[in-house]
Amino acid sequence: MNILVTGANGQLGSEIRDLADNFDNLNLIFKDLPDLDICNFLELEKFVDENKINSIINCAAYTAVDKAEEDSAIAQKVNSEGVLNLVKALKKTDGKLIHISTDYVFNGECFVPYKETDPVSPIGVYGDTKREGELSVIDSDIDGIVIRTSWLYSSYGNNFVKTMLRLGKDRDELGVIFDQVGTPTYAKDLALTCLRVLSNSKGNKISLKGKLYHFSNEGVASWYDFAKAIMQIGNVNCNVKPIETKDYPTPAKRPHFSVLNKSKVKNDFGIEIPYWKDSLEECLLKLKNK
Ligand SMILES: NC(=O)c1ccc[n+]([C@@H]2O[C@H](COP(=O)([O-])OP(=O)(O)OC[C@H]3O[C@@H](n4cnc5c(N)ncnc54)[C@H](OP(=O)(O)O)[C@@H]3O)[C@@H](O)[C@H]2O)c1
Repeated sequence: MNILVTGANGQLGSEIRDLADNFDNLNLIFKDLPDLDICNFLELEKFVDENKINSIINCAAYTAVDKAEEDSAIAQKVNSEGVLNLVKALKKTDGKLIHISTDYVFNGECFVPYKETDPVSPIGVYGDTKREGELSVIDSDIDGIVIRTSWLYSSYGNNFVKTMLRLGKDRDELGVIFDQVGTPTYAKDLALTCLRVLSNSKGNKISLKGKLYHFSNEGVASWYDFAKAIMQIGNVNCNVKPIETKDYPTPAKRPHFSVLNKSKVKNDFGIEIPYWKDSLEECLLKLKNK
C-alpha cells in the first residue's frame, strides 16, 4: 500500500517517519513544503497519480493558533481548501484518508470529556478552519476518517514541552495557566494509531467512510500540571506557579475544557492508549538522548 504522508516534517509526520520501519507492509512516502503543497491541487493530483498513492495521512496544517487570528486567509487555505484538495485527489483511487483535527473545534464549556457526537462551536479562526476541513472529509464519499487530537507535543518541532524546558533552564520561576484543562498527547502515540488503522486487519475490515474519532493520551491535566510534570521528570529546577487565563492574554481564545472521550477509537480499533505522564517520560528520555 503506497501511503502519502503530507506535512511530513512537522511533529506528527516526523513521529510517523520514526515508526515507519515497524510497518513494512506500508510503503510510506513523506512529503512537505516546498516539495508538495496541499493547496496546489494540480500538483497534488499529479503526485497521487504518478506515485500510485492508495492512502494519505494528512499531517499538513496551519497550526499557529494565535497567528491564525490575523492570517485567517492562509489558515483557511491550508486547513480547509487543502483538505478538500486531498479528498478530490483521492476520489479516483478508492484510497483511504486519515485527516487530523483538533479539540479547538469545541468551545470548552463542557464538564465531561467530549464525545464525537457532541456539538462543535469553535471560538477562534484556527478551530473554525479546522472544522471546515473536518466537514470536507466527513461529507465526502471517500473512505476517510477524521481523528481529533489535543495538546500535541513531540521531540520534534516547537511545542509546550520544549518551551517549558527552555524557559525552566533560564528562569527560577514560571507562571503557567491552571484554568485550562485538557490532555497532553505525545505525537508518537497518535502516529502509532494512524499506522495501525491503516495496517491492521481490524482496521482494514472497518469502512472508514465519514467516521470521526477522538484520540489523546489518557488522563486529564491543566497546563500548570503539565508544566510541573515536565520540570519534575526533566529534572529542571524551576518553580512553576499557577496563574489564570486572564493573566496570560493571547490573541486567540482557548477552550477552558477540552478533554476528549476516546472510547470509540479504543473499541473500533482495539487499541490501548498510554497515560499522559508515561508518554511524557518517554518523550523526555528521547529528547535527553538526542
Ligand atoms: N500542535 C498541536 O498542539 C495540535 C493540537 C491538536 C491538533 N493538532 C493537529 O494535528 C495535526 C498535526 O499537527 P503538528 O503539531 O504535527 O503540526 P506541525 O508540527 O505544525 O506540522 C505541520 C506541517 O505541515 C506543513 N504545512 C503547512 N502548510 C502546508 C501545505 N500547504 N502543504 C503541505 N504542508 C504544509 C508545515 O510546514 P511549515 O512548518 O513549513 O509551515 C509543517 O511541516 C494538525 O492537523 C494539527 O491541526 C495539533
